[in-house]
Amino acid sequence: MSERDWISWHDHYDTPGSSLSRRLAVVRERVRLALDAGAERVVSLCAGPGRDLLPALAAHPRRERVRARLVELDEHNARIAERDAPGGVEVVCGDAALTDAYAGAVPADLVLACGIFGNVSDADIRRTVATLPRLCAPGATVIWTRGRHEPDLLTTICDWFEQDEFERIHLDSDGHYGVGVHRYTGPPRPLEPGVRMFTFL
Ligand SMILES: C[S@@+](CC[C@H](N)C(=O)[O-])C[C@H]1O[C@@H](n2cnc3c(N)ncnc32)[C@H](O)[C@@H]1O
Repeated sequence: MSERDWISWHDHYDTPGSSLSRRLAVVRERVRLALDAGAERVVSLCAGPGRDLLPALAAHPRRERVRARLVELDEHNARIAERDAPGGVEVVCGDAALTDAYAGAVPADLVLACGIFGNVSDADIRRTVATLPRLCAPGATVIWTRGRHEPDLLTTICDWFEQDEFERIHLDSDGHYGVGVHRYTGPPRPLEPGVRMFTFL
């Protein structure tokens, strides 16, 4: 993993009015909408302490029907996620970049890929987008984020999703963050073990 402090990174969520706090609100709202639409199987890649998914799930009337797997490499973050996770939510402390991490938890109806695309190479973003269909049930929602720092890849990442049988549902940006929501429109694709999607820089 990279040398960044992935524990304190999440403190910026608590700064009122910050770009990250706005991003968090958008992601939670998009999670709520996906749960409203019937999502029951959820996976979160590089989940951190689960601050996007877990509160949205806890507040949702269909929470008891949901089965989720959060995959997070940092032990401290994984422990917090585990502490806050309701029944039906499994927290795996491991490498979310490997497809093996999702065996038994996919195909999912909702896939969170938040806080990844700003930390990996462009080629890894492309590879991850191309691999996501193997985590997705037909009709699944993918929620992803990317900061607007240069090079601003927001539109390019949308194009990559749309080349790979995803349709755009929503794109939200404030000039600092971007949140994309895409729906998988392709056929079922089996999980292929042993594929590495990305490496944090
Ligand atoms: C920018 S944070 C995003 C956390 C969360 N998804 C969110 O958006 O709030 C990135 C997280 O990825 C985790 N991470 C980095 N490389 C990882 C890997 N290979 N597998 C799993 N987690 C990883 C870090 O520990 C950190 O918690």
